[in-house]
Formats: sequence, structure tokens, C-alpha cells
Amino acid sequence: MSLVTDAKVIQNKQVIPGYYRMDLAAPSVTERARPGQFLHVRCGSTHDPLLRRPISINAVDRRTGEVSLLYRVAGRGTSLLAGHRSGDMVSIVGPLGRGFTIPEGNEKVIVVSGGIGIAPLYFFLQELAGLGIKATVFQGAATSQQVLLGNEIKELGHSVFIATDDGTRDFHGSVTTLFENYLQNSDFAPGPGAGENLIMNKSYACGPHGMLRKLSEITARWGIPCEVSLEERMGCGVGACLSCACKVKTGDGGSVYHRVCVEGPVFQSGEVSWE
Ligand SMILES: Cc1cc2nc3c(=O)[nH]c(=O)nc-3n(C[C@H](O)[C@H](O)[C@H](O)COP(=O)(O)OP(=O)(O)OC[C@H]3O[C@@H](n4cnc5c(N)ncnc54)[C@H](O)[C@@H]3O)c2cc1C
Ligand code: FES
Repeated sequence: MSLVTDAKVIQNKQVIPGYYRMDLAAPSVTERARPGQFLHVRCGSTHDPLLRRPISINAVDRRTGEVSLLYRVAGRGTSLLAGHRSGDMVSIVGPLGRGFTIPEGNEKVIVVSGGIGIAPLYFFLQELAGLGIKATVFQGAATSQQVLLGNEIKELGHSVFIATDDGTRDFHGSVTTLFENYLQNSDFAPGPGAGENLIMNKSYACGPHGMLRKLSEITARWGIPCEVSLEERMGCGVGACLSCACKVKTGDGGSVYHRVCVEGPVFQSGEVSWE
């Protein structure tokens, strides 16, 4: 089955200033998509800009065959994307990349997001809810207005703790500080290696590079396995151009380069070289 599809825009609306949600009719994507995967999207109606832009799959509705994207207008490509109207056609390639590992169900699941990083994690949380798994979600945003999908996540049955940089909602500070405070103040059972019969903990994250690096340190200290979704500028999106290479540690103390578009975007935080 081809990965390239012309998908019809069902709706493309601004959810908060500078952030849009686009729903596309793409049953071939919804059938195959896994949380953490992305689409490579042609943003304009011509070949300018030439390169497609990677956007995570934010949600799928397998009943209607619709896939949703949640995106921030960052530059020319995403500005053009925001100009699409219902009924327009958008060329997409995907689903692409390696997504999050779905937990077994006996693990305590923690999700940490920063800003638009909530986009792929919402799909993951949708999938968990379908499996009857409740997660504890730590969501960071710049301001209270920029907390995306907080209510929808609660409606899925997950617990949500919010941090804002300007203190206009809930915890005033970074989401990683909020998360570490939670670890210190709860009866949280440390992860593997801490003893027998403990609940296994697993964490999943997406957000800015600095946030993921800090989270990687915290989870390593607490012995909690952590999967992170990385963002890199992409050319081809399918492993051919090497523009998205990221340094990954090998077991013997060395390092290799992996392609974020194929071997990622999801990696174990401990294998990423956070320089
Ligand atoms: C796997 C993956 C999934 C992504 N998912 C989403 C998503 O769900 N929603 C969303 O809003 N964005 C997502 N992004 C980021 C998105 O691809 C970029 O914002 C977009 O490519 C910018 O294109 P542009 O033409 O609008 O901006 P450009 O003019 O190309 O760039 C504008 C600004 O955005 C920065 N930028 C460009 N590309 C990236 C990138 N890949 N990562 C980080 N910063 C970038 C540039 O450095 C510049 O400051 C994802 C990126 C990757 C790699
Ligand atoms: S974007 Fe071309 S190899 Fe990843």
C-alpha cells in the first residue's frame, strides 16, 4: 500500500492564537497509524516550499477514517498549511517513523509534555484509554491560554497536572520541576531494580530539547525508563537524505548516528546523546 495520499481537509481551525487543528480524511493512515508516528505534509498547493514538513499524528478516528494534526505556525510551511480550507486536498506521506511502545497494562504510566509536544502524546493517551490504562500526565505550557487538550485528556480518564511558565495556571515553573516535586512528595514506587513486586514504571515524553534532556536526567536518577520523541529538521522523511541524523550512544561507550525519521522519532532517553 502506498504511503503517499491526497487527503481531503475536513476542517482546519485555529484552536488558540497561532495553533491549528486540521482533520483529514485519510482511512489508509488511520488503519495503520501508531502513537508517536508522524505525517510528512506538503504545506502549500505547489512545490514551493519544496520540502514537506513533519507533523505528528495527534488523533485518529478509525470509525470515520479521519486523522487529526495539531500544529503551531512556526514559519512559511505551517503558515501555508494554516491557509487550507474544508474541501482542499493535502498531500501527505505516512504514517512514518517508530512510535511509542504500548505498555503492558501492569505498569504505572507517566506522560510529560512541553508545549506542542502534547500533539503526539494525545494520540498515545487515546490509545491507552482504549486499553483501560490510566496515565498520570504532567503538562507544561508557556501560559494558561496555551494549555492544549487538558480537558480532553481528563475526559479520557487520565490525571493531569499542569505547569505554566508565567504561573497563570496551577504550578508556576517548568514541567520537569513539577514532575520531580511529584516524585519526591508521593509514595511513588521506584522502578526496576528497587525491589521485587513493585509496580513497573514507565514514562513517555515530547517537548523542547532542553526539557527532554532535563527529564532524561530525572528519570535516570529515579530509575524510570523513559521514551522521548525527538524533533529534527527533516528533508525526505523516509531515511534517504540523512538530514535528520541524531547521535545515539552504543552499549560499548561509543556512538552512532540514527535517522530520526526512520529509527525515531521515539528513542529511549538513555540512548540519546544530549549535547
Ligand atoms: C517528528 C516530528 C513531529 C513534529 N510534530 C509536530 C506537531 O505535531 N505539531 C507542530 O506544531 N510541530 C511539529 N513538528 C515541528 C514542525 O515540523 C516544524 O514546526 C515545521 O517543520 C516548521 O516548518 P515551517 O516551514 O513552518 O517553519 P520554518 O520556516 O522551516 O522554520 C520556522 C522555525 O521553526 C523551527 N523549526 C523548523 N523545523 C523544525 C523542527 N523539525 N523541529 C523544531 N523546530 C523546527 C525553525 O528552526 C525556525 O525557528 C514536528 C517535527 C518533527 C521532526
Ligand atoms: S529526513 Fe531524510 S533521512 Fe531523515
